[in-house]
This record gives sequence, structure tokens and C-alpha cells, in this order.
Amino acid sequence: MKFQIKPSSTTNIEKLSTDCLICTTSSLPKLKLPKNTLEYIKNIITQEELHLDSNINKSILLFNVPNLNATRLLLISTGKEHKLSDFQFISLIKNIHSNFNKYNITNITLCLNNVHINNRNFNWQFYQTIIDLQNHLYTFDKYKSKKSNNKNLTNKIINIDFIINSQDLAAAKLVLPYALAVTSACKFTKDLGNTPPNICTTTFMAKSALDLSKTSSKIKLTILEKKDLEKLNMGAFLAVSQGSPQPPKLICLEYNGHKSNNKKTKTSPIVLVGKGITFDTGGISLKPANSMLGMKYDMSGAATVLGLIHFAIEMNLNLNIVGIIAVAENMPGGTASRPEDVVTTMSGLTVEILNTDAEGRLILCEALTYCKKFNPKAVIDIATLTGACIVALGTHYSGLFSNKQELADQLIAAGNISCDKVWQFPITEEYHKQLDSNIADIANIGGPNAGSITAACFLEKFAENYNWAHLDIAGTATIIEGKFHNATGRPVPLLAQYLVEQANFKNHIK
Ligand code: BES
Ligand code: MN
Ligand code: ZN
Repeated sequence: MKFQIKPSSTTNIEKLSTDCLICTTSSLPKLKLPKNTLEYIKNIITQEELHLDSNINKSILLFNVPNLNATRLLLISTGKEHKLSDFQFISLIKNIHSNFNKYNITNITLCLNNVHINNRNFNWQFYQTIIDLQNHLYTFDKYKSKKSNNKNLTNKIINIDFIINSQDLAAAKLVLPYALAVTSACKFTKDLGNTPPNICTTTFMAKSALDLSKTSSKIKLTILEKKDLEKLNMGAFLAVSQGSPQPPKLICLEYNGHKSNNKKTKTSPIVLVGKGITFDTGGISLKPANSMLGMKYDMSGAATVLGLIHFAIEMNLNLNIVGIIAVAENMPGGTASRPEDVVTTMSGLTVEILNTDAEGRLILCEALTYCKKFNPKAVIDIATLTGACIVALGTHYSGLFSNKQELADQLIAAGNISCDKVWQFPITEEYHKQLDSNIADIANIGGPNAGSITAACFLEKFAENYNWAHLDIAGTATIIEGKFHNATGRPVPLLAQYLVEQANFKNHIK
């Protein structure tokens, strides 16, 4: 796929040879078009009432438009004032895609000028267009014996041209590489998530990290194997993996991109910790069959961390980042851990495992202790942690939990900019009581109430002496379309925005 920016002042719209020219009604007044073409279009706008606010996003696909070289013209209404909400604009991009998806199209030209989105600037509009188009165009056909069959024409789109007003050209050129880095990171994350669990094993995850580390000299890769985890006393981590023949691994990717790094001093890194359960059966506390579908995506937090390292490399970010992924498979079996087992963690805290299906926190707590050695500026863990989070927020917001409000506020802001939004939950003292154990220091579940919060409270006990945030992405990492689960790539856009802000790269997206 190739994205190109074309200035409206020097582009002859009339002569453009494109499979589909896509114009919002807002863009028409400023386009240089022959008189009879404009007349023809204006008539259609009146007939179809495309000028009315009640018809925002109504689209008409036209063929053989007088004096237009383009094979098709897709006309989309932006209403009277051309003022849209975020949601209306995102629907507009979806609308564009569903229209050209029906035809055998390889080149499209987009003319979305003079659309005004409430409280958003051009940079945001351009960014959002690229992200959403790429999202709609994504397909995963690696495990189909026939690739891109006729039903799947979306794969054929190869050129997307943007006609941009002169005052927005500089912004478009600034935003394009950023948006493309976010989309290729999302693709990386989605591909890994969608990979079936018999192939995407813990060893496969390690191989993905290794391949990624080889793409940049700025990356240092360390893989802690089972014997290393034993030496570090990571009893909770080991308990999760012990029912599976797949070996547990704690994988660290250090991205050393900060310009003032030298041998003696290194700027404190941002540490990203990802939950990498390659399949979650629940263990001995076995999940019912229906709840197990989608559990190959239980490594989405880890896939997000790898996607973000991919992003940092592509953007050459002036920042130190440590990506830590805790990978294991949660299986039942004769060697699996039981409900009521007690394990000792690397921190020294003992944990009573009352439910083996609350395994995410058991692997993450060890990673949260381990990451202290990096003297982190901030630690953000990302996990498909609780079904309760889906009950609370649905699929639109990720859950946010933090011991530092400043960090939480940065993430909320980055979420609003990228439209990959988060909603903060409380993790105050009163909730911690729910984790009391009769026999160990803490239990790994906190009862039926506030399940996402007690899971976060569990993690907070290990996130000591540093700024920490936890993202529960159980509802946002995947989307159910029809009867199928698919990876969304979230929260890559959110954290990419957070990282560029930390690296002082200004994309001026608002
Ligand atoms: N991986 C699941 C959480 C999950 C559920 C993610 C649905 C995506 C969709 C997690 O390991 C889990 O099983 N959590 C339990 C916790 C409970 C036992 C306290 C849950 O949510 O039921
Ligand atoms: Mn589970
Ligand atoms: Zn899980």
C-alpha cells in the first residue's frame, strides 16, 4: 500500500486517472473542476439532499461523470456546516471503505478537504483517516489455502492519494510517517494476536521478539528461561505455566534510543509490561467451552508491547524503552497448579491461588518486581486481565488504574488524541481488603464485586516505589464481528501517542 500527498493547487482533478475519486461535499467549492462537471454534481447534491445535516454520511457513487477522467466518483455528504463529531468522521471513513470494498479497485484518490471536526485540527483528521483506512483494509489470510480470493478485494488497494489544501501540506507531511508507523505497529500486533495458539506458542513469541530485535542495533534482547525464573524465585509465574508443556519465558527488549545515552549513565526508561498468555483455558479452574473461544488473544498485552517496540524503531524515538513480556500457557493437567496452592513470589510476598483462571496477575506481578532493576521513569502494564472490565466498560474504553495521577492524566490525554480511549477506575485502600487470605499474604482473587479493581489492587502490591499504570484491555484488544473474534491492535495507538509525547516528538495532533 502506498500513501501519497498531492497538493490541491497543482493537481488537475479533471485529468486524474483513478479508480475512484472520493469527495466530501465540503471539498467541492475549492476544487478546480470544469463548469459542466460542477453543474452535474450540484444537481445531484440538490436531488439527493446531500446538503442537509440529516443526510450527513449519505453517499452516492457516480459513473461517467462529465469531463471527469476518474472511473467513479464517490460523493459523501458532510451536511450544511461541514461540522462533524469524532464519531461522524470515523463513520465517514468506514462508509468510504464499504463503498470501494465492493469493486475491483486498486487506486483511490481522497478529497476530504474543508471538513471541520468539533475540537479537532487537520492533523487529527489526517491521522485518523490513515489509521481507520488501514484498519478496514487489514486482512489476515495466512492460514487460508487460497489467498485474497474474489471476496477479498480489499487486498488489492495499492495506491491511496490525498488531495491536500496548501495550508495543510506541511502538517500532512509531518503526520504521515507517524500514522504509518502506528499502522504498521498495529498490523504487527494484530498478526501476532490472530495467529492460532498451536502456532503462537511461548517459543514462537520468543522468536518474534528475536526477529524484531534483529531489525535494529538499538535493541538488546534478554530471554529468561524456566531455570532463570526458578533462580529468581518467581513462584507465581512458574505456577501458571506448570500445567503446560510449553516453557514459560520472561522476555526483555531494551530499546536504547535516547540520544544522551552513554556507557556510564542511561536515562531512565519507560517500561512496558505485557501479559502473554498464549492460551488461557483457566487451568484447573477450567473455563466453560464458550468462554474459552477468544483465549488465544490472551497474549494481546505482550503483542502490544512488541508492536510498540516496532513503532519505536520505525520512528527512531529519542527515548529509552524496556519492553517486558511474560509468556506462558495456562493449561490444566496432572502437573498444573491447584486452587488453594500457595506460592512465593520474587518480592517475598506469598500468594494463595484460589482460582487458577486469575493467572494474568500471577505472571505480571513477577514482571513488576523484576522491572525495578531498570530504575524506570514509569511502568505501564498491558493485559487482557478481567472479564469484569468488559462488563464495566464494554469494548470502547480500556480500563486504567494507576498509583500516580500525573501518569494517569497523560494516558487519558493520549487516549483522547488517538481515539484509543481509557477510563480510570479507583484503586483505593478499601478494595485491597478483598484480597485478604486466610493462609498466605494475599489471595489471587477478590470475590465477585469490582473484579477489575481487585485485579489491579493485586498488581499494585508489586508495583512498589515507581510510577505505575495498568491497562485492562480485555474489552478493547479484540472485536467480535459476526461470530468471529479479531484483533484490533489496541492499545497501540494510545501508547504510541504517549511515547512520542515522552520523546518530545510533536505531531501536533489535537
Ligand atoms: N484472560 C482472562 C480475562 C478475559 C476474559 C479476557 C474475557 C478477555 C475476555 C483472565 O485470565 C481471566 O480468566 N479472568 C477471570 C478472573 C476471575 C477468575 C477472578 C475472569 O475475568 O473471569
Ligand atoms: Mn484466566
Ligand atoms: Zn487470562
